[in-house]
Amino acid sequence: MRFAHDTGRAMSAWHGPQRVLLGVSGGIAAYKACELVRRLREREVEVRVVLTANAERFVGATTLQALSGQPVRNSLWDAAAEAAMGHIELARWADVVLIAPASANTLARLAHGLADDLLGTLCLASDRPLLLAPAMNRLMWAHPATQANLALLQARGAQILGPDSGAQACGEVGTGRMLEPDAIVAALATLAPAAAADLRGLRVLVSAGPTLEDLDPVRYLGNRSSGRMGFAIAAAAAQAGATVTLVAGPVSLPTPPGVARRVDVRSARQMHAAMLDAARAADIVIAAAAVADYRPAQVSTHKLKKHGGALTLELLENPDILAALAALRPRPFLVGFAAETEQLETRARAKLVSKGADLIAGNRVGAGLGIETEDNALSVFWHGGQHELARADKTTLARELLALIATRRAAAREAAP
Ligand code: PMT
Repeated sequence: MRFAHDTGRAMSAWHGPQRVLLGVSGGIAAYKACELVRRLREREVEVRVVLTANAERFVGATTLQALSGQPVRNSLWDAAAEAAMGHIELARWADVVLIAPASANTLARLAHGLADDLLGTLCLASDRPLLLAPAMNRLMWAHPATQANLALLQARGAQILGPDSGAQACGEVGTGRMLEPDAIVAALATLAPAAAADLRGLRVLVSAGPTLEDLDPVRYLGNRSSGRMGFAIAAAAAQAGATVTLVAGPVSLPTPPGVARRVDVRSARQMHAAMLDAARAADIVIAAAAVADYRPAQVSTHKLKKHGGALTLELLENPDILAALAALRPRPFLVGFAAETEQLETRARAKLVSKGADLIAGNRVGAGLGIETEDNALSVFWHGGQHELARADKTTLARELLALIATRRAAAREAAP
């Protein structure tokens, strides 16, 4: 897992999950859970703590209750607690489930789906990301049973944070120390808020697909964009309550449900005209289209014939749609994409500046990634920060990207003079 680095003020720049369910299991590292709760509360993250029976031998519920500002749960059979927020509600409440420390026993229990205590039951009842910060003696960590349990958990999508190497509480030196609270917080920061963005009342304009630049009645210059990324964004924006206009290059995808208006175009110049026209009434523009940078200087009215030897084509530069949108006043919040095969961050950041965008979502393309594929992964950049959206199907990624866009737009509006 990569950690995001925020170059803005750490406290105000949090855009990770807002509600963390922290499971604490038995081990000396349980004392670090107190510091972890403090670090998360400093970022205004809501934390609810669940202790296993063994954890209570190492750390007191009263301490964690004072630090989190919320009642600490430790039993499936606590009638008062169940009446306030039942365990299923608690599982639904969380954006993410984090277990720190995760003992060897807890990893084994989770791997096998045991549900005879509160933490095990919550984990089974949750469909949210599960993050585990293991802590145990080095031999317990290296044991094939522990490693097999980890492999099972990872195969089901759990993310493992650490452990670190170094001196252990038992006096041995090796791998098994729990990651420090700051490193766990940094890992959490890379997760997008799970809550879907609320875009009610906003007008969102999305471009998708390739543009095709005709050479003659049968040939064109084009690219491999399938339109899936842009269509997934349009679908997610409509689901989030926005009024969506979708400007689509030539693709064979159905209009997503809830999209208010679709404009089909073929060339970059047609997309330029359609985007400029629609952008005047947009609050947010998301340019996921792979626009051709050049077009043939001449479009032949008849099929070009082979006449032996090389053929030289003269190409003219197409208008830059994003840059034109950035010059509009008032100006919508602008999100561009950068599809790169190398130097993703450098090139995406250069586009942030040259195109005058507010965010650039960089994706690595080629070798079965990003373009023409079902999955994608995005590194999103803005002035003073960045955020990683891990590899996922484009529908999931579109939801996560919109949540991030909503957060960044709100931050930009707050910072505006
Ligand atoms: O369609 P899929 O198969 O799902 O693939 C998705 C995708 C990989 C095409 C998409 O995620 C993506 O990265 N789109 C942008 C691809 C690209 O060509 O980027 P670029 O580096 O050429 O352009 C940068 C930005 O400027 C883009 O937002 C682009 O829409 C915009 N642009 C580019 C050229 C131009 N003349 N005008 C523009 O506005």
